Amino acid sequence: MKDDNMIQVTNLVKTFKTFNAVDDISFTVKKGEIFGLLGPNGAGKSTTLRILSTLARPSGGKAAIGGYDVVKDDNKVREMLGIVSEKMIIYDRLTAEENLWFFGCLYGIPKEQLKKRIDELLELVNLIQFKNKQVGTFSTGMRQRMNVIRALLNAPEVLFLDEPTLGLDPQSSVEIRDFVKKLNREKGTTIIVTTHMMVDADILCDRIAIIDHGKVIALDTSANLKKSIVGADKRVIKLEVSNLNGDMTSKIKALPCVSALNQEEPTKLRMTVTGENAFDTILDAVRGLGGKISSMENLQPTLEDVFLHITGRNVRDSTEAKIAVPMHGPPGLMRRQQRGR
Ligand SMILES: Nc1ncnc2c1ncn2[C@@H]1O[C@H](COP(=O)(O)OP(=O)(O)O)[C@@H](O)[C@H]1O
Ligand SMILES: [Mg+2]
Repeated sequence: MKDDNMIQVTNLVKTFKTFNAVDDISFTVKKGEIFGLLGPNGAGKSTTLRILSTLARPSGGKAAIGGYDVVKDDNKVREMLGIVSEKMIIYDRLTAEENLWFFGCLYGIPKEQLKKRIDELLELVNLIQFKNKQVGTFSTGMRQRMNVIRALLNAPEVLFLDEPTLGLDPQSSVEIRDFVKKLNREKGTTIIVTTHMMVDADILCDRIAIIDHGKVIALDTSANLKKSIVGADKRVIKLEVSNLNGDMTSKIKALPCVSALNQEEPTKLRMTVTGENAFDTILDAVRGLGGKISSMENLQPTLEDVFLHITGRNVRDSTEAKIAVPMHGPPGLMRRQQRGR
């Protein structure tokens, strides 16, 4: 393993027929880092994780975890990994303990050790008092906590979380984020998390790669990504026009000083603008179009603004088709799946 890089991804490509779902992606993840792959549905996040998890073969490029190549040393790689897929893998009819016992046995963890580990993990996510309750009676948030600790039974050095807050209510999302942070802090686990939720990436990740159409379009800390779109002559502004209409919006969007625009509400536009005179230019243009300006303010940039600025699109509006490809956790199941890859 070179210096302190735990994960090294170099010019990774995954082609389905003629289409590159992953299109020349490179990044490194340091030991103990929480690294985010942020992007809209269909961006290629899960496919990237599947390759790193040894569940799919790359069409080009390479990747290594702990110095082990994901194709050549796939068994070694799997020993280091815990994987939480987009699809929850949990048996409702079994109790919390029975579920973990089942998966632990698939991993081949010695019984005494497994017994201890199950209690430790249930403690870690505050589910110890539900140890003997059927998982079918759990809330979605509790089930997702179970789903995450299932991937931790073999005490992996590296954990992959694919959309860990998908379908969770805000409170459960907070719990999962807190838990992932705690795990990283206390055990030093290196983590890659994929998400299309800005807030996950923002709160959780030390560094974020923004992925779009299979490419890394930006990579940095959240703070630096945000800083990159504001400066002496760059800002994020919100403009409220009480009689805003479609024609006005498209004309404002076409102004050279407007680099990206998103209509947040019927009368409100959020945009990234460049140039010292951007404010005046926009005010003049709107008035010239007969627009009644109710307010205009400078905003703190968000990751959403960064994505909008770079792609011209809103993450939420990116509606590429999405194929859910289940990834299975325990090594036994993974090997069986691979025969078909
Ligand atoms: N097994 C597959 N066969 C064909 N196309 C696929 C397959 N898996 C994913 N794709 C396509 O690859 C693209 C990236 O998918 P995915 O990695 O799941 O994106 P994300 O996780 O960012 O939402 C999508 O367009 C998806 O439809
Ligand atoms: Mg996905």
